[in-house]
This record gives sequence, structure tokens and C-alpha cells, in this order.
Amino acid sequence: MSSNRRSVYRCSDCGTDYPKWTGRCESCGAWNTLAEEIVSRRPGKPAASKGVGNAPDAVRLGDIRPEGVARIKTSLGEMDFVLGGGIVPGSLTLVGGEPGIGKSTILLQCVARIEANGVRTLYASGEESVDQVGLRAARLAEQTDAIHVLPEVRIDTITARAAALGAKVVVVDSIQTTYTDELEGAPGNVGQVRECAGRLMRFAKETGTAVILVGHVTRGGGIAGPKTLEHIVDTVLYFEGDASNDFRILRAVKNRFGSVDEVGIFEMTSSGLKPVANPSAAFLSGRDESSAGSAVTALMEGTRPVLVEIQALAAKAGFATPQRVATGLDHKRLAVLLAVLERRAGISFHDLDVFLNVTGGVRLIETASDLGVAAALVSSVNDVPCPHDAVFVGELGLGGEVRPVPGTERRLAEAERMGFRTAYVSARATYQTSMHTVSVRHVTELYDRFAA
Ligand code: TYD
Ligand code: MG
Repeated sequence: MSSNRRSVYRCSDCGTDYPKWTGRCESCGAWNTLAEEIVSRRPGKPAASKGVGNAPDAVRLGDIRPEGVARIKTSLGEMDFVLGGGIVPGSLTLVGGEPGIGKSTILLQCVARIEANGVRTLYASGEESVDQVGLRAARLAEQTDAIHVLPEVRIDTITARAAALGAKVVVVDSIQTTYTDELEGAPGNVGQVRECAGRLMRFAKETGTAVILVGHVTRGGGIAGPKTLEHIVDTVLYFEGDASNDFRILRAVKNRFGSVDEVGIFEMTSSGLKPVANPSAAFLSGRDESSAGSAVTALMEGTRPVLVEIQALAAKAGFATPQRVATGLDHKRLAVLLAVLERRAGISFHDLDVFLNVTGGVRLIETASDLGVAAALVSSVNDVPCPHDAVFVGELGLGGEVRPVPGTERRLAEAERMGFRTAYVSARATYQTSMHTVSVRHVTELYDRFAA
């Protein structure tokens, strides 16, 4: 440990410093706002900001040629697509997701392919030993022999090794295991995560090395560590999926070099992650078209339409308080839709347990799937199957009115491609399609159509 280090615990709300951690800032009274920070690394040396020194010169934008920055292709099509065409040199990317979802797997596949393209990489693993990484690599259908694995958690050693190796892409798995001994806190605490990410950011910008961080997701769904982590990185990718099936969705939620909300869809196989070429077909496979309570809707996953099946089961409640269990749909949205059906269409759910499931582990984020959810619920209550070739696209208002949604035409085109013949859409939607369409103004019309 160096004797010249000095760290303080600083309140993120008011900026007051403390020599020791406390739960509550005595100055402003805020709870849990103190995080460790390094104050000065070299006391006695004049601050660099006093003179110009070797600070960079101002650059005329016209002298920069953006096309000169070639992206590094991972050659994993869906990954390159989500990134906006590949990895930008000198960028910092955060890949978040729950434990076991496949973060290490996909990044190992990426470095294997980047190496195969002749670009030097380094895979720094603080989570697993070299043997464990090797065992994983052996399962993958990739050329993994050329990958350099570094079992290291000290941040400065990782960057030094990366520089010595001349790596153009460095994966740090994970940011929660890295640390610097200039801070007292344990790896994974807010101060350590922030400092290590900051050092990797400087390393990336100064050397032009692309750095990819793995970040764990907390129970609340955020990436563990400070929110500032998402602010300092250039790109944030989330890896999502359901433990009960093999589909994984890689989603860009922030991208300084591409569009956000693009997704890549993968399937976890016995030899690593494989892109899913036809997601609609994958999500609809195994559908029983003749059973009541099933409805198909078309989502927009990024710019691509995808069909998914919604299954609803309304059953006589065993207890006084009926259960509401939803997988893939926000509980509050389900409550809203049940209330709309109850008040506007006169369907009583008060003595029914309601279970809702979206196949493939997909989450319904858009309200465009409301009509599909309503159709599945009505179909289950009436015990009458929805038409087997029908797709439902529309948002439900609180008055029970069915509203148009963006991208209706593209959603219907995907449904048609998948062999659907009938589309239930808002009467106010504008689109062109050769499908048979049923214009729905109000949710009661849905009920009338599926009456027993
Ligand atoms: P992993 O990449 O270790 O997840 P994370 O780094 O996000 O914690 O993924 C581990 C899971 O993936 C584990 O349950 C085993 C499974 N898996 C496969 O099914 N096939 C494979 O080829 C590999 C490497 C892992
Ligand atoms: Mg891992």
C-alpha cells in the first residue's frame, strides 16, 4: 500500500467529506449517500491543471474524418447489429444482466471471433479461474485457442497487461470484482466500482483500446454500483431472458455510437449462444391454436417486429383474495387491463384467479400488446379460443377504447409473413395490408366476438 494515498468518504448530495464511513451525512442529513473517493494521488506535486502542460490542443471538427474510425467487428451478427455496426475503438461498453444469463459466454464468443479476425484481445476474469474459463471455452463452437485470459482483479494490473499485450479489445468480467488498493473499500462497493470504471474509461480514451465491462444487475433491475456507471460508459447493453427457457435478448439501452432499443435475439444451446434467425417462428413454436386463452400479438423489438403468444388462464379463485400472477407483463398494467375489462366490458374478475404468461421469456413493454392481452383474457373467461389465424394489435384506453399504435403496418406485415390471415386492429389505425382486418373501436366488441 502506498503511503501517499488518501481517500475520503464524500456525500453525493452535498459534497461534505468524512474520514470514515457513516450511514448518515451529518451535514445534510441524507442517508446512505457516502461513497469513498481518492482525494489526491501525489501530494506535494503541483496540480496538473495549473499550466497547459501536455494538455491536448483544440481540434477543428472539419479535420476529423469519422469514416476513418473503423469499427471492430465481433462477427457475431446480432451483437454487431445491437452495437450499431461493431465495437468503436476507444469506447467503453457495459454489458449488464442477471447472474447465469450468459454474459461471460457471449463475451467469450465475441473475443474468440475478434481474435479470429486478427485483432488482439484480452479477457480479464476476476469471477472465474483460468481453468473455468477454459472449460467454458471448450464447450463453445468457436476457435478459442488464441484468446489471452488474465485472472486478475487489480485494475492497474489489468490495464498494464492489456497495454503490454497490445490488446485492441479488453473484456473485464466483472467490474464488481475489480479494485484498487488506493481505496479502503471492498471490491464491488460504490467507490471501488466508480474509481475502477473511471480508470478504464481513461485507459480506453488514452490508448484507443475498446473496453467491455460486465456488470451485475441488482434485484431491483439496475446495474449494481452507482448509477453514474451508466453515465460514464458510452454504451449500455442489457442481456435479458427467463431462466425457464433458452431465449436471450440483448438490448441496447444507451449507445453513443448507434441507435438505442435495438435488440439481438439469441438462443442458449449446449455450445454457446446462437442467433435466432426467425424470432417469431421460435416464439410461436409449440402453440396450441385450439386452446382458449391464447392470443398472438406483434411487438416491435427495436426496429424489428416480432410475434409472441400471450396465454391467459382465469380460474375460480380458491381464496377470498384472488391471485394475479403475470410473467412477462407488468403487474400494474395487468391490473389496469383487468379493471378496464371489468368496468367497460362487464367481465367480472373478482372471484377469478388470473394467470398470464408471455411465451419465450419476452416482456411486453409496449401498450400495443394490450388488445392481445385483453383477447387472451376474454377468450379464457368465455372458454372460447381466439381465431387461430388472428393477430391482435392495439392499445386500450381507460374508457375501453382501442387506440392505434405506431408501426401497425410493419407489425401486420410480419404477421402476414408468418401465415396469419386476420388482424384485429384499432378502427382509427392507418395502414395498408392484404390481410383480412377486423376494426375494433371498443373492447366490448372483442367480448361480443368471442362470446360462448
Ligand atoms: P454465463 O455466461 O456464465 O452467465 P453470466 O456470466 O451472465 O453469469 O452463463 C452460464 C449459463 O449458461 C449456465 O447456466 C450454463 C449455460 N451455458 C449453456 O447452456 N451452454 C454453453 O455453451 C455455456 C458456455 C453455458
Ligand atoms: Mg459470468
